[in-house]
Amino acid sequence: MFRFSFAAAAAALLAAQAFAQTTSECNPTWGNVTCPDNAALGTTFDYPFNDTMAEMDPRFFNVTAGASLIKFSQDGAEFTMVKHGDSVRVQSDFYIFYGRVEAIMQAAPGTGVISSVNLLSDDLDEIDWEVMGQNTTNVFNNWYGKGNRTQNHGEEPVLADSQTGFHNYTIIWTEQELEFWLDGQQVRTVPAGEPGNYPQTPCYINLSLWAGGDPDNEPGVIAWAGGETDYDAGPYTMKIKSLKVVDGHTNSSSYHYSDTSGSHASIQVNEGESEVYKALNKKSTKQKAEEKWTGLSQTAKIAIAASVCGVLLLVCVIYTFVCITQRKKGRLEREAHDKEWAAHESELAAYRLKMARGDFAVSHLGHGEAKF
Ligand SMILES: *[C@@H]1O[C@H](CO)[C@@H](O)[C@H](O)[C@H]1NC(C)=O
Ligand SMILES: *[C@@H]1O[C@H](CO)[C@@H](O)[C@H](O)[C@H]1NC(C)=O
Ligand SMILES: *[C@@H]1O[C@H](CO)[C@@H](O)[C@H](O)[C@H]1NC(C)=O
Ligand SMILES: *[C@@H]1O[C@H](CO)[C@@H](O)[C@H](O)[C@H]1NC(C)=O
Ligand SMILES: *[C@@H]1O[C@H](CO)[C@@H](O)[C@H](O)[C@H]1NC(C)=O
Ligand SMILES: *[C@@H]1O[C@H](CO)[C@@H](O)[C@H](O)[C@H]1NC(C)=O
Ligand SMILES: *[C@@H]1O[C@H](CO)[C@@H](O)[C@H](O)[C@H]1NC(C)=O
Ligand SMILES: *[C@@H]1O[C@H](CO)[C@@H](O)[C@H](O)[C@H]1NC(C)=O
Repeated sequence: MFRFSFAAAAAALLAAQAFAQTTSECNPTWGNVTCPDNAALGTTFDYPFNDTMAEMDPRFFNVTAGASLIKFSQDGAEFTMVKHGDSVRVQSDFYIFYGRVEAIMQAAPGTGVISSVNLLSDDLDEIDWEVMGQNTTNVFNNWYGKGNRTQNHGEEPVLADSQTGFHNYTIIWTEQELEFWLDGQQVRTVPAGEPGNYPQTPCYINLSLWAGGDPDNEPGVIAWAGGETDYDAGPYTMKIKSLKVVDGHTNSSSYHYSDTSGSHASIQVNEGESEVYKALNKKSTKQKAEEKWTGLSQTAKIAIAASVCGVLLLVCVIYTFVCITQRKKGRLEREAHDKEWAAHESELAAYRLKMARGDFAVSHLGHGEAKF
């Protein structure tokens, strides 16, 4: 049967629909460009999707197409294609360098409608699970290395009800081999030594829904997808209940291509806590304080309690001192005031006495001293 690579098909589709992203890719093996390091997952990302969500969390995902076509329900994240031109693409913000991916997914129905879970690296290594909407008996997997589109390793394991029920699509990827699992059954093993370019560089996860059978696509792509998509028979919805991703390298924060070979040996693993690790393990100040307290020994707790009491006691002493001082100050002020008042009173009394005696007589006026 005639087969096209997903990426070639996607490229054709992108060209046909004119939303090509020519600048989004930086290929470290080209040698003429310096690509940014890949942000590592560095941990386990075990993530059910549910109706408590309003969007794909931007700390973990980058929706590069069809954000408005994503809804959340108790069945998980739902990607829906309604009309010609619709597609949904969700890329993980993180990369894994070997590891495993488990997607619990119900594929979309519809001729030529592709539901996929892929791994893709910056130098175009690729691992795919894809389900064609019209095929109710088989699903599809494939792998590529360094963007070599002439190698073709697609297989179609049997799986019934892929469009009506949830199934477990798992990829286990190590330096030695690549395994494809369906509902807990291993359906394929690819040894690293298999002819062709074995995927061996850090990959991000692509979850996507797109119309390989779009009538505008090249006939080869439409044939690969299983026929022309009939939009009037839609909408077509793909559901992802959960995504679990385990990075093959833990405690890694980023991956760096140290040369242009694209070989796994050239990948430098930078240690540390990844952004995802930090986001997943971020705690509130209260939680942190509680945990710190719980984690303390009895002696430490007593010491802290004692010093807290000590501080309280000190605060009391200072408060009392300040109060006493204030009161003393107040008393002194009042006394001064009273004294002043008394002096004033006696002055007034003396004056009254003078008045009564008639001391303020003409003599004063005569001297021209009167100042009243
Ligand atoms: C999301 O992906 C697009 C296309 O690859 C890129 O231009 C953009 O910078 C990414 N956004 C984030 C937040 O990573
Ligand atoms: C880098 O090299 C590739 C392959 O030779 C070429 O297609 C691309 O245009 C070059 N990019 C730049 C920025 O020079
Ligand atoms: C919904 O999903 C989030 C993220 O996976 C998870 O933390 C939360 O517990 C889930 N809530 C329910 C009600 O399942
Ligand atoms: C993943 O999506 C990007 C665009 O967001 C696309 O360029 C790439 O080909 C896709 N990869 C796979 C493996 O589907
Ligand atoms: C489903 O895929 C299998 C394997 O490629 C193929 O034999 C079968 O004809 C396909 N069925 C449909 C309805 O496309
Ligand atoms: C691509 O793969 C084909 C088929 O396996 C092989 O013959 C060819 O040499 C490869 N090309 C490169 C550049 O690796
Ligand atoms: C999915 O399948 C894998 C491989 O068999 C298994 O390890 C994992 O537990 C399964 N996940 C769920 C949620 O059943
Ligand atoms: C994680 O990486 C950091 C930074 O290099 C290092 O200090 C620490 O020892 C590592 N932890 C483990 C458990 O490997």
